[in-house]
Amino acid sequence: MGVNTRTPLIAGNWKMNLDHLQAVAFVQKLHWTLKEAKHEDDSVEVAVFPPFTDLRSVQTLIDADKIPFALGAQDVSAHDSGAYTGEISGSFLSQLDARYVIIGHSERREYHSETDEIVNAKVKAALKHGLTPVICVGETADDLERFGASAVPAEQLKGALAGVSASADIVVAYEPVWAIGSGQAATPQQAQDVCAVLRGVLASALNDDAAARTRILYGGSVKAANIAGFMREPDVDGALVGGASLVVDEFASIIRFQKHVGV
Ligand code: 13P
Repeated sequence: MGVNTRTPLIAGNWKMNLDHLQAVAFVQKLHWTLKEAKHEDDSVEVAVFPPFTDLRSVQTLIDADKIPFALGAQDVSAHDSGAYTGEISGSFLSQLDARYVIIGHSERREYHSETDEIVNAKVKAALKHGLTPVICVGETADDLERFGASAVPAEQLKGALAGVSASADIVVAYEPVWAIGSGQAATPQQAQDVCAVLRGVLASALNDDAAARTRILYGGSVKAANIAGFMREPDVDGALVGGASLVVDEFASIIRFQKHVGV
């Protein structure tokens, strides 16, 4: 696929943690910790995905203090506006300068019955409103046993991309469900194997250029102690971090993986 010019993306999915006051304190502290460590901001893109109620406060802080983190939401409505109680429009998110939105996280697929069709509609809604979807795919332990690692994530990605333009800006996150919150991460080789298959899906569903430029993240029990192994793999372009993104020093160390990645 040619030279890899993809900027690594380290993304923190806070899930339903940290209220707006805690969020502001956390982002300030993370920024300070990276500054103290003389972290080079351009070497890696950092994104945080707080709960909806935190977004305005975090946006205001990032803007006022010129903090170089991108902002993302954890979900978006497939609809633009109207009688959809409890849903959040992509237009509201782009008004808050959100750059990204997580779509199809396994927790939404499981607890909110999100199908590949719903994920596809949300991906289109995000793109329509100028947001970059972070499309989550991944197999359960049962899928792994029955179909191997890549079959289910590849099908999910195909479904998510139906009717999406090859020029669309998207991010893919491979999150094996059995690795999420379990402390049992995939091995770097397992992550690489599936991410390479997913890059092939990008090439066939979109085109070669989209496959070469789209970042594919690994997620599932990522920590400071294992990030370097994932980032050494050619098709892993970053991480979607859950639990470890809620601990300032741990998340800062993951962001600084280039200091301990080795070669
Ligand atoms: P953990 O890092 O807590 O395993 O969560 C991963 C995840 O679901 C990120 O979206």
